[in-house]
Amino acid sequence: MKSRKEFDIIIWGASGFTGRLVVTHLFKNYGVNNDLKWAMAGRNKKKLKQVRFSAADNSVPIIIADSNDEVSLKEMIIRTKVICTTVGPYATYGDKLVSLCVNQGTDYCDLSGEVQWMRKMIDQYHEIAKNNGVKIVHTCGFDSIPSDMGVYFTQRELQAQMGQPANKIEMRVAGISGGISGGTYASLTKVMEQAYFDKEVYKVLANPYGLNPKGKIEGNDTRDLNSIIYDDVSKSWIGPFVMAGINTKVVRRSNALSGYVYGKDFRYDEATICGKGLKGRIKGYLMAIPLLIMTAKPKSFLKKIIDKILPKPGEGPKKEKREKGFYNLKFYATLKDGSRVLVKVTGDMDPGYGSTSKMLGEAAVCLAKDNLSNISGVLTPSIAMGDFLLKRLENRSGLTFSFNIV
Ligand SMILES: NC(=O)c1ccc[n+]([C@@H]2O[C@H](COP(=O)([O-])OP(=O)(O)OC[C@H]3O[C@@H](n4cnc5c(N)ncnc54)[C@H](OP(=O)(O)O)[C@@H]3O)[C@@H](O)[C@H]2O)c1
Repeated sequence: MKSRKEFDIIIWGASGFTGRLVVTHLFKNYGVNNDLKWAMAGRNKKKLKQVRFSAADNSVPIIIADSNDEVSLKEMIIRTKVICTTVGPYATYGDKLVSLCVNQGTDYCDLSGEVQWMRKMIDQYHEIAKNNGVKIVHTCGFDSIPSDMGVYFTQRELQAQMGQPANKIEMRVAGISGGISGGTYASLTKVMEQAYFDKEVYKVLANPYGLNPKGKIEGNDTRDLNSIIYDDVSKSWIGPFVMAGINTKVVRRSNALSGYVYGKDFRYDEATICGKGLKGRIKGYLMAIPLLIMTAKPKSFLKKIIDKILPKPGEGPKKEKREKGFYNLKFYATLKDGSRVLVKVTGDMDPGYGSTSKMLGEAAVCLAKDNLSNISGVLTPSIAMGDFLLKRLENRSGLTFSFNIV
């Protein structure tokens, strides 16, 4: 039984672009000193006060903690049941926080999509977190909740309605609209730098099972799509999906951590639908250009130009763009006997920030308040929170999940 804490949740990074949106979500949905006790944290009191003024009110407590000051981090995490962090790049700022949470018994959730860093956290802390009864949950944003929970939902419904899981799911992005923040771009840059200069990091990123538990880094899936091809399942041209390299690994980790409830031969992939006919094919090539630009070689001339154009840390898509944003994902599931179902997952705001901040906020509330199983370790969202999170995504985060037999 964990000791009583002053707060249910502390949002660390509350002055950042996404942190501020998480504050807005919690304040709007839970107030301050009601059933949910929460606080805002960061390294800069002035900025935190500004966020509190614009997104909440003076009753939200402020805590100062800097990643360079371990004492401040420890004093922060011992006051709360759950730390919800948006301080990224996580490979730069995250190690000490995870270590302290694991050792002090504080549950944790974040927005990391930095596969190489999550691999490091798994290797260093999974066993200790398991022994200490702590849940460390990465990827609680657009990467990878819709994918991880979409597959979880699909398999749960298939078991309930057809008595067996799908042995193959192909996720296709059918529609998406949003933008990028400076923080996300900085994190992507960090991943690219580490992958260019460290072969071991590259190997983890390139391995479809790069996030699986030690000793289970294997399976039938191959690398993510990196070209424009015709897709029989969606009957259209498809191209790479920028988040596939993270999401597919998270889904495979969920399967392995569950003891392979999706099956040992389960296969999963993700791609973006570009359209039908010649138009669809051309659109595919055009859609690949931003992807190539974003992953330009570190320190190259092109990279320096992109650094100047893209948002800086603290900046991101404007409110109107976030509110007009959306996503529409299709999960084509195939059963062993060849029968098929189609699951649709939608989100009501831009994926990266409007929707992500609601998903992360609800993941934190779920960890703090719901009657979760006592599974612990470095977990995925579906393994840590399962049905409880699904309910929160549908009721409070603007996601829909629908199951159709085709
Ligand atoms: N998984 C997803 O779908 C998803 C979606 C969105 C974002 N993300 C990730 O979330 C992270 C945050 O993105 P963002 O756009 O919100 O970034 P951001 O605006 O740059 O915010 C970063 C936050 O970290 C704080 N920070 C920086 N250095 C610190 C230190 N030494 N100690 C304490 N706090 C420090 C900043 O504080 P100051 O304000 O004082 O500078 C700020 O509050 C990124 O890693 C991004 O990739 C993931």
